[in-house]
Amino acid sequence: MSKTPLSPRLADALTVTSRAVNAELDHLLPLSDGPDVRVHEAMRYASLDGGKRLRPFLVMQSASLFNVAESAALRVACAIEMVHCYSLVHDDLPCMDDDDLRRGRPTCHRKFDESTALLAGDALLTKAFEVLANPATHADPLVRCELVSDLAHASGGQGMVGGQMIDLQAHLLDLDVAGITRLQQMKTGRLFSFSCEAGAVMGKAHGELRLALRNYAHDLGLAFQIADDILDVEGDAAEVGKKVGKDADAGKATFVSLLGLDRARSQADMLADQACRHLDPFGEKADLMRDVARYVVQRRS
Ligand code: IPE
Ligand code: IPE
Ligand code: MG
Ligand code: MG
Ligand code: MG
Repeated sequence: MSKTPLSPRLADALTVTSRAVNAELDHLLPLSDGPDVRVHEAMRYASLDGGKRLRPFLVMQSASLFNVAESAALRVACAIEMVHCYSLVHDDLPCMDDDDLRRGRPTCHRKFDESTALLAGDALLTKAFEVLANPATHADPLVRCELVSDLAHASGGQGMVGGQMIDLQAHLLDLDVAGITRLQQMKTGRLFSFSCEAGAVMGKAHGELRLALRNYAHDLGLAFQIADDILDVEGDAAEVGKKVGKDADAGKATFVSLLGLDRARSQADMLADQACRHLDPFGEKADLMRDVARYVVQRRS
C-alpha cells in the first residue's frame, strides 16, 4: 500500500482552508457585465478551484498563532494566492516556460489567449494590493502598509521576479549550489516567507517569534522547491497536474541536476526537519505547520 504524504489532520485542515479561500476569491473577483469581462473570466479561471493552497494555508496558520481574526487573515491569504496565481500564469507563457498544462487543466493562455493571460496576471497582481490596502484587512493602517510593502518586496525584483529572471538564465550561468539556493529562495522562498510572517505582522508580533517564522519559512521554501525539482524529474504528469521533465529539457541547473536525486531528497528532508525545529517556541499550536513541512517534501503533486 502506498504511503500517503498527507496526515489526516492536515488533509482536513487544507480542505477547510481551500474551501474558504475559494469562497473569498469568488467574492473578491467578480465578473463584469461590460466588454472587459474576458479578463475577469481569465482571472477567475487562473485562481479558482485549483492548487494546493499552501501559501494561504500558511497565512491562516501563522495568523492563528497570534489569535488574528480569521476573516482578516483570509483576505491576506487570498492576496498571496492572487500573486502566486499571477506568477503561474506568466511563468507558463510561451516567452517563459511555454507550458500547456497547469493544475490539471489547460494553462490560462491556452484556454484564452496570450494577451488575455498577460492581462489577467497583471490584474491579479494589482488586485492583491487592493485587497491588502482595504481597511477590512486590518484596522491599523500601519499594519496594512507593512503588509503591502512586504508583499511588494517578496514579489518584485528582489523576490519572485528577480528569481524568475535568474531562473530563465540558469542554463547559461553555471550556477553552483549556493547560486541555485539563492535563485530558489528568491523565486519561491520569498512568497512562502511573506505567508509565514503575515500572521506575525497582523498580530503585531516582533522579535523572536517573527524570526522563528522567518527561519521556518526559509527552510520550508527551499525544501518545497527542491521537491518541485524532484517531481519534475520523477513525477507523473497526471498526478502532478503539470508537464514533467521540463527543467532537463530546458537545460536548467536545479538541486537535482547538481546533487543527484538521492542527495537532493536528503537535503529536502534535512531542511524539513530544521524547519520544524524553528517552530519550537510555538509548542503544539504549530503542529499543522510541522505537518506542512513534512508534507512538502513527500508530496506527489
Ligand atoms: C508551483 O507552486 C510553483 C512553484 C513555486 C514551484 P505550487 O506547487 O504551490 O502550485 P499549486 O498552487 O499547488 O498549483
Ligand atoms: C516557477 O517555478 C515559480 C514561480 C515563481 C511561478 P517553475 O517554473 O519551476 O514552476 P512550475 O514547475 O512551472 O510549477
Ligand atoms: Mg519557471
Ligand atoms: Mg514553470
Ligand atoms: Mg518546476
